Amino acid sequence: MGAKLVLVTGASSGIGAATATRFGREGAHVVLLARDAERLERTAQAVQQAGGAASSFAVDLQNTPETLRIAARVSNELGTPDILVNNAGAGRWLPLVETSPEEATSMIGVPYLAAFTLTRTFAPAMIERGSGSIAFVTSPASYLAWPNAGAYIAARRALAGFAEGLQTELKPKGISVSIMVFGVVETPYFDNNPGSLENIPKFGQRFIPVLSADEAADAIFEGIAKKKRFVVKPEIYRALFVMNALFPKTVASQLRRAAKKARAAGA
Ligand SMILES: NC(=O)c1ccc[n+]([C@@H]2O[C@H](COP(=O)([O-])OP(=O)(O)OC[C@H]3O[C@@H](n4cnc5c(N)ncnc54)[C@H](OP(=O)(O)O)[C@@H]3O)[C@@H](O)[C@H]2O)c1
Repeated sequence: MGAKLVLVTGASSGIGAATATRFGREGAHVVLLARDAERLERTAQAVQQAGGAASSFAVDLQNTPETLRIAARVSNELGTPDILVNNAGAGRWLPLVETSPEEATSMIGVPYLAAFTLTRTFAPAMIERGSGSIAFVTSPASYLAWPNAGAYIAARRALAGFAEGLQTELKPKGISVSIMVFGVVETPYFDNNPGSLENIPKFGQRFIPVLSADEAADAIFEGIAKKKRFVVKPEIYRALFVMNALFPKTVASQLRRAAKKARAAGA
């Protein structure tokens, strides 16, 4: 892939840290964004050990003026990224009555508004040079619905809706936009967002494997390299999305039953 400039949000942990390191293996200069400076430094070292270069910027992506300030610094000091990976995300899966309006707002802030702000900042220069790749990392919640995760599902749909809009808008301008949909990935996400694990529908666990962060990172890397519109891992989710489009009531009732089972089991 050569010495590309790659910006990864949420690079202090999990999928983002693994993705940054994966691009490091290709000799990329990776720009790392997240709040925790110490953990960003650890990722920077991993990127360097893998053979790449790294620049870290600690930023709270909930804060739009701060995000714009850091994005301007990246542009001025390093240039426009060739690849932007909008990965940072948080959000608890909770029933409506346990979700505060503040928490619902913050889930729209990150991932969606943060991805909007960064994409809006870097896209004009990408359009000008007629090239660039933008990736969005999301979950099946962008395409399926189950109980006890409404605010999270809404935020994920905002992200997917934005990405799909850009796919059609930016393709003629030479920019590829990829949507990465992952099932459960082994990362600190569920420790960082307590309450969520208990609300994962107990549905098809025997058939749907858990991914490692490295597997997710490989999928992101390959999806971007091949300019894929839609990457889904594990692939079985594609079948679920088709089923949901054809038989929405059946899928909804299965997911409702599976979510009830999960909550009753307490995990
Ligand atoms: N794990 C899964 O099962 C799974 C499945 C599908 C999709 N995803 C999505 O994949 C993405 C990465 O998740 P992960 O599993 O790697 O979880 P994670 O280990 O909790 O990582 C989340 C990353 O987002 C960053 N972040 C969160 N809020 C932020 C904020 N306000 N400002 C800046 N950075 C922020 C965190 O960094 P700081 O805390 O340092 O700020 C961290 O680097 C998320 O969008 C998640 O929803 C996860």
